Amino acid sequence: MDFGAIRRITSRLWGPVCAVTAAYDGEASGQIAVGVLSASILSDHPRVLIEIWKANRTHDLIAAGRAFAVHPLAADHTAIVRLLGFRSGHDGAGKLDGLRWAPGLTGSPILGGMPGFLECRVAGTLDATDMTVFLGTVVAGEWCGGETPMVQAYEMIGAMPVEWQEEYRRHDLAQREAAAHLLGAAAEKAPA
Ligand SMILES: Cc1cc2nc3c(=O)[nH]c(=O)nc-3n(C[C@H](O)[C@H](O)[C@H](O)COP(=O)(O)O)c2cc1C
Repeated sequence: MDFGAIRRITSRLWGPVCAVTAAYDGEASGQIAVGVLSASILSDHPRVLIEIWKANRTHDLIAAGRAFAVHPLAADHTAIVRLLGFRSGHDGAGKLDGLRWAPGLTGSPILGGMPGFLECRVAGTLDATDMTVFLGTVVAGEWCGGETPMVQAYEMIGAMPVEWQEEYRRHDLAQREAAAHLLGAAAEKAPA
């Protein structure tokens, strides 16, 4: 297979940069995700799909609490991308410290100062070995961002200082290695 050609397409299929939050048993946290997709043809039955890597702490909170919130970010939210997306809650709790938030209907943290949010209860999951795809039924949502455009990852990362971009690449590499490990372990277990 020509993985370069395939990547030319798949890299453009990511969604805009979002903050995904969740809470369980007194722990509230969040991460950044671009694997976020609308999953309903009927606007009065809204659902979303999110793709969350199993190595992430937020993954465990969503899986345990069966709920999450998605916040599309604006172009000037680079500091939030760095805060939530360049380090893991596994390395220390309190990722939401310093951010304004309040628990929503499901207990998921709803961040202040965002253009909007969707709050979801998990309606289904797909185990994809290195990630879980969560289907969420939207139970609450708000848009107060006017005409604020949503932002693609390459624009958001490209607007960051060079040191932050290097930090991002280091964290991204570690995440790819974790995914490769999980996929490799699954491949080894598969029958010949
Ligand atoms: C621009 C960007 C896009 C990302 N997209 C995803 C994604 O779609 N799914 C995912 O699980 N992680 C994604 N990540 C990685 C997580 O946000 C990152 O690993 C985070 O540190 C996980 O935090 P946690 O372990 O506290 O949950 C993305 C990170 C960035 C910066």
